[in-house]
Amino acid sequence: MVGRSAKTGRCNVRGSKLVVVLLALSCVAYADEQHVSLGLPATAEDIAKVYWSITPDGENLPPGKGTAKQGEPLYVTHCSGCHGEGGKGNVARALVGGAGSLQSKQPVKSIGSYWPYATTVFDYVRRSIPYTAPMSLSNDEYYAITAYLLHINGIISRNQAIGAKSLPKVKMPNRDGFVLAYHASRSLRLPSQLSADSKRT
Ligand code: HEC
Repeated sequence: MVGRSAKTGRCNVRGSKLVVVLLALSCVAYADEQHVSLGLPATAEDIAKVYWSITPDGENLPPGKGTAKQGEPLYVTHCSGCHGEGGKGNVARALVGGAGSLQSKQPVKSIGSYWPYATTVFDYVRRSIPYTAPMSLSNDEYYAITAYLLHINGIISRNQAIGAKSLPKVKMPNRDGFVLAYHASRSLRLPSQLSADSKRT
């Protein structure tokens, strides 16, 4: 029995609380030492198979290259049924156009008018297309399709090859169109609060 006296319930309650705490602590220590015995530890190889997000600055871009010229037939096979000829839109949204429309009443957000990075276009296409079998094309083919999308938006020429080194260097038309909503010197605030702030000052 834990606690000083069996007659004083108070001591017993304290005592049993202590037991619970000690038990919990020993479980934590045990789990830490032994790991929870579920599944297998993930190896670097396992992680590489699922961790392939590409950052705006191009981290994780795979080796390979492609041009818009090579990408055009791939676009026709895998994309134009939904996005229309030349990316002009069909049952799915247009992937071109909208330059200068972002501040208008009817902004058209396309790769050319809106997307700030070419690297994330590659990431988007590779992770989601072909519609029924994402990631099933080769990296060269994904670079070629990305090059085609950039070309139809007037960003690169038809024969310019893009790859892991050159894609991060492509400057998208709306690259500087994104601003930090929260000033570093302020705490996180809603946009409405920020405009109220600016009226006050
Ligand atoms: C079966 C129809 C279908 C096919 C085929 C298809 N897409 Fe799409 N795609 C869509 C739909 C629907 C969306 C919109 C998703 C959403 O709600 O944002 C989309 C969105 C996109 C976007 C994001 C557009 C944006 O500005 O947000 C890109 C880029 C894109 N698709 C590229 C492609 C490319 C490249 C191919 C071919 C390799 C392709 N898609 C094939 C249906 C399709």
